[in-house]
Amino acid sequence: MNVVPRELMTETPVSSADFRGAMRHLTGGVSIITAGRGKDITGMTVTSVTSLSVDPPTLLVSVNRDASSFPLIRRYGAFGVNILAADQLDIAERFAGKGGLKGAERFAGSQWVTAISGVPLLVGALSAVDCEVEEIVERHSHGIVIGRVGTIRNSVRTAALAYWHGQYVAVDQDEDAARLAEVSVPARSLRGA
Ligand SMILES: Cc1cc2nc3c(=O)[nH]c(=O)nc-3n(C[C@H](O)[C@H](O)[C@H](O)COP(=O)(O)O)c2cc1C
Repeated sequence: MNVVPRELMTETPVSSADFRGAMRHLTGGVSIITAGRGKDITGMTVTSVTSLSVDPPTLLVSVNRDASSFPLIRRYGAFGVNILAADQLDIAERFAGKGGLKGAERFAGSQWVTAISGVPLLVGALSAVDCEVEEIVERHSHGIVIGRVGTIRNSVRTAALAYWHGQYVAVDQDEDAARLAEVSVPARSLRGA
């Protein structure tokens, strides 16, 4: 049985500014969702990609129903998830609509291959995943798109692009580990030795 805790019922409506403010604390990995095939393609920058299940391999992404990608995802029943590397910030900006670029124009300047489903996948992405649409749950302004993973292209690179507090940040295993080592308290002093 699903129980809704009473604490969640609030008398005071939460303002969108408050909600946005809270969500700014949530660090999100940046991906490009691609949709369509041939010249009828578009894509968008997202942080809402989440792994859903491993067996079967599924993921979900929350897509605004007004975004140009949404009707193409629905029409073709497929989409690509391209997890961006730290040095692909310019691609993130293009696909967020910077410079007014639309549709196929956003793909210029970077290299793409066509997945089995027909969607473009980004060469050099940390991982590029070809998904078949399993279900779309339309809720409020967005569609929760559930994708069954078909094929995956992995790269050997590791430094990722994230979004936090309204800005892009690089997450680099080596650099961050080095920085952590500088500020870490030695394990001995944590044990009180
Ligand atoms: C860092 C970042 C993350 C975003 N995440 C999402 C997201 O998860 N879902 C969404 O619908 N839009 C998201 N957006 C907004 C879309 O990228 C943007 O509205 C895009 O231009 C929509 O595509 P369109 O111009 O083709 O309609 C995000 C934008 C940025 C900059």
